[in-house]
Amino acid sequence: MSQQNGFHVAVVGATGAVGQQMIQTLMNENFPIKKLSLLSSARSAGKKVDVNGQEITIQEAKPESFEGVDIALFSAGGSVSKELAPEAVKRGAIVVDNTSAFRMDENTPLVVPEVNEADLYKHNGIIANPNCSTIQMVVALEPIRRKYGLKKVIVSTYQAVSGAGAAAVEELKKQTKSIINEEKYEANILPVKSDKKHYQIAFNAIPQIDRFQDNGFTFEEIKMMNETKKIMHMPELPVAATCVRLPVAVGHSESVYFEIEAQDVSASNIKALLNDAPGIVLQDDPENQIYPMPADCVGKKEVFVGRIRKDLDVTRGFHMWVVSDNLLKGAAWNSVQIAERLVELGLVKSK
Ligand SMILES: NC(=O)c1ccc[n+]([C@@H]2O[C@H](COP(=O)([O-])OP(=O)(O)OC[C@H]3O[C@@H](n4cnc5c(N)ncnc54)[C@H](OP(=O)(O)O)[C@@H]3O)[C@@H](O)[C@H]2O)c1
Repeated sequence: MSQQNGFHVAVVGATGAVGQQMIQTLMNENFPIKKLSLLSSARSAGKKVDVNGQEITIQEAKPESFEGVDIALFSAGGSVSKELAPEAVKRGAIVVDNTSAFRMDENTPLVVPEVNEADLYKHNGIIANPNCSTIQMVVALEPIRRKYGLKKVIVSTYQAVSGAGAAAVEELKKQTKSIINEEKYEANILPVKSDKKHYQIAFNAIPQIDRFQDNGFTFEEIKMMNETKKIMHMPELPVAATCVRLPVAVGHSESVYFEIEAQDVSASNIKALLNDAPGIVLQDDPENQIYPMPADCVGKKEVFVGRIRKDLDVTRGFHMWVVSDNLLKGAAWNSVQIAERLVELGLVKSK
């Protein structure tokens, strides 16, 4: 840190599940930082954290916190982004926002660097980081879309509890211990903290992530469907999602069914394509029981793909299994990767 030619970077939501990963990722990437501001709510203000041996005091996020900031990485919830991201932009910062606040705003690019990096050039101060489940799916689908065309996508997710924040992971751990010890347990957070009912997540599967919409889909499912179309510049692509929460701490898994335009494509063709694609690790060797699993992807930046097979009835239909660390490629790494690309493309200047 403290690189003279670096940038003043602010992390908003620095004490959260994603925020902590962002700080770690900035350090791991040796991102050029001349000053790091760590911001949270008043609850955590004053706490001290050690970042690469340097003690930094967490401050309450306020409009004036962004004076002099070049790059602000937001992950403190949609309402905080709506209020403070424009304040950061007003003061000359470029915002990379992890919440859903601006994702579908037509003037805000929604970016996964492996897929639509060129959209960064169209930014108006804010760049949105897509939903975690969307990111890992489009990284796997984009090489296929480019080479063979894409006609349809149907995805079922198996999502980790950390996607609902640090408190949800604590609840999973407490419930698991209580149930094993045959003690009473509480359910206060999942499926959605602000919804009417709460269910146990330990030893369970909950087919609700975020709130239900009038059309019967949850908002998480709607996010996956709309964001995929926007990122891939395919507004007409049929996409359907079912999102399920599992008692896994970190790492989202997805069963993705897709149909392509091209004929006479084999599963081996798709495997060879994904083996050479950016940001992807192919783990596909059924004979030796090699396939991606969340426990193996924790702490890794890549998207892991396996179980690629051709549908037995639909000639242009395929299935694949896609796994990634939801806190890294799904959030912190994609945000830092966007910031790195902004620097490399000369789209951000140090004040
Ligand atoms: N978890 C994921 O996989 C994931 C992936 C992509 C996007 N996201 C999005 O990222 C955001 C944060 O998620 P998370 O999982 O990190 O949540 P989290 O663990 O609950 O952390 C929330 C963070 O926001 C801060 N915060 C809350 N209210 C604030 C306020 N009024 N002003 C400033 N800071 C405030 C908290 O600070 P205090 O310590 O002061 O409470 C904490 O640092 C959410 O919008 C979520 O949808 C999460």
